[in-house]
Amino acid sequence: MSGEPILRFEEVSKIYPLPAGDLVALDRVSLTVDPGEFIAVMGPSGSGKSTLLNLMGCLDVPTRGEIFLSGQEISGMSDDDLTRLRRDRIGFVFQQFNLIPLLSAVENVEFPLLLTTGREESRRRAIEVLTAVGIAETHFAHKPAELSGGQQQRVAIARALVNDPDLLLCDEPTGNLDSKTGSAIMEILAAENREGKTVVMVTHDPGVAAYARRTIRIVDGRVA
Ligand SMILES: Nc1ncnc2c1ncn2[C@@H]1O[C@H](COP(=O)(O)OP(=O)(O)O)[C@@H](O)[C@H]1O
Ligand SMILES: [Mg+2]
Repeated sequence: MSGEPILRFEEVSKIYPLPAGDLVALDRVSLTVDPGEFIAVMGPSGSGKSTLLNLMGCLDVPTRGEIFLSGQEISGMSDDDLTRLRRDRIGFVFQQFNLIPLLSAVENVEFPLLLTTGREESRRRAIEVLTAVGIAETHFAHKPAELSGGQQQRVAIARALVNDPDLLLCDEPTGNLDSKTGSAIMEILAAENREGKTVVMVTHDPGVAAYARRTIRIVDGRVA
C-alpha cells in the first residue's frame, strides 16, 4: 500500500450565505486521514461535524480549499465521476438509519448494487453482508418498521458495506440507540476497521469515541 492519505483537507472552508450574513460552518480545516484509521469526530452541536463528514464523503463541496481523495483533488472531478466515486469507495451510516420504508431489509441492502450488478449477485451479496452484521434470515423480508432500532442500524451498516467501500463514514451511528445496542453496533464498526476499512465516525459520546484510535475535535468550525 502507498503512504498516501485516503483523505486530505487543505484549508477547507464551508460557508453558507444566509440573509443574516455568511455562516461559516467550517473554517480553514486541514487534516489527513490515513488508510486503516479509525477516527472519532467530536464537538458541540452545531460545530460543523456533519458538514465535515459530508465533505469527506463528497456529498457536498467546499466553498474554499481543496479536498483530495487518495491524492485526487475532487473539485476537478465531474458530477458523474463523483457519483461513481461515492458509489464505489464510500459507505455512509446515519443516526436516523435512512432506510427506505417500503423495501424489506434485504431489498434495502441490495438496492445500491442493482445499478451495477445483476439481480442474483446483488441478492447473494446482500445476504452475505446482512449475515455479517448479525441479521438473521428470519428478518430479511421485514420492512424497517418491523425491526428494532438496533436491527435497523445493522441493516443500514450492511447497506453501507454492500459495495465493499474503503471508507466508512458514520454520523452519530449510535445516537438513536440505547447503550447496549450502541455497543453492539460499535463492535461491528470496530470489526470492519480491523478488516481494513477506514472509519470516520461523528459522536457525542466519549464511550463511543473510545472505540476509535484517534479523535478530531471540532469547535466553531475549526479543528481544536
Ligand atoms: N444547509 C445548510 N444551510 C445553512 N446552514 C447550515 C446548513 N447545514 C449546516 N448549517 C449550519 O452549519 C453549522 C454546522 O452544522 P453541522 O455541521 O450540522 O453541525 P454538527 O453536525 O456539529 O451539529 C450550524 O450552524 C448549522 O446550522
Ligand atoms: Mg451533526
